[in-house]
Amino acid sequence: LNNSLARTPPMGWMSWGYYMCGANCEKNPEKCLNENLILTVADTFYQEGYQEAGYEYIIIDDCWSELERDSNGRLVPDRKRFPNGMKYIADYIHKRNLKFGMYTNIAKKTCMKYPGSRDHFDIDAKTFAEWDVDYLKVDGCFVEEDFLNTAYIQLGSALQKTGRQMVYSCSWPYYIQYIHNKIPDYQPVADHCNMWRNYHDVVASWKVIKSIIMHYQIEYKRLSPHHGPGHWNDPDMIVFGSGALNEGQSRVHLTVYLMLSAPILMSCDVNNITPYEKQLLQNLDLLAIGQDPLGVMAKPYQLELEVTLWVKPHLPMKGDKYHSFSFAIVNFDVRAHLISFFPSAYGANYTDGYSVMDVFANTFGKNVTLSDYIEVTVPPEDVILYSLFPL
Ligand code: DGJ
Repeated sequence: LNNSLARTPPMGWMSWGYYMCGANCEKNPEKCLNENLILTVADTFYQEGYQEAGYEYIIIDDCWSELERDSNGRLVPDRKRFPNGMKYIADYIHKRNLKFGMYTNIAKKTCMKYPGSRDHFDIDAKTFAEWDVDYLKVDGCFVEEDFLNTAYIQLGSALQKTGRQMVYSCSWPYYIQYIHNKIPDYQPVADHCNMWRNYHDVVASWKVIKSIIMHYQIEYKRLSPHHGPGHWNDPDMIVFGSGALNEGQSRVHLTVYLMLSAPILMSCDVNNITPYEKQLLQNLDLLAIGQDPLGVMAKPYQLELEVTLWVKPHLPMKGDKYHSFSFAIVNFDVRAHLISFFPSAYGANYTDGYSVMDVFANTFGKNVTLSDYIEVTVPPEDVILYSLFPL
């Protein structure tokens, strides 16, 4: 969608992956989706380096509203959990130089049976705009295929009509493919949405992370042409802070998302992630790979049964004619693999060669020229990541 937003993949935090519906705060105070949670994320982003590292959007997912609209047909935030309303939260977030995201569904009800936006597109768009929302996630439960294809476009124009700039995040192609069993037409999706879900919900599990990555590997040809500044495929949230992933697995999770130029929306208790996860999330050399303005989805090359090389060209630096590259060698196997490859065989063919940065080790190794290969042992369930800069 050409609305000047999301020129690089959005980064931030979203409630669903960790807090889920989060509406039963008495019974489950640890997973309570309320005002205090959102303000705490904003404070943490502001105070602990996330905002400076580029994390921007704080997004409330499903289960934020009362079960009924008000007498004017407007959505009403849950009175107990959001006692000061959403504009108050937006102001708090904006004061910290961050942006505010919300959620609705394209049907009469949300996936968790709260009021959805069907038959209320204009009034809801207006309401979100009045609350100073900067990002809207629109889910796609409970509707027919034809309706998905027209309604996402209509709700998109209702948002535009408000005059407020909002990142428009759609789940349209996911529901087309996995609920209605059709191959999505990505062109209208990319024309009308800033980002969109393609695949099942992420869960904090290595198996699920692997299946998401495999989906992108298998669907590379279909997805990559529609991916770029203003329009991104969205593999769903980063699920750090759950204890489900070891260090190598968490490196894979974040690295592949960045190689894809995917949105980076963490979902976690921001004050209860490991120091290592926090360090990864704020590693600027790593984040630069995903935030590169060229926004190309890395291309996968399967080198061995469980080893894939992902290759991503970057926008040449100022004054440079030649692209830099990132190479990520991902090993899904439970044993280590010795891998060698010629970067020049994957597009890095500048005759003067490249300097080679091992991003996780934060060291520069030997330079490579056209005839040099790189050889490395990739540990089990881990990734080796190199950035190559033209000499
Ligand atoms: C399905 C979506 O894919 C999830 O990300 C989340 O928004 C839930 N619905 C909320 O009900």
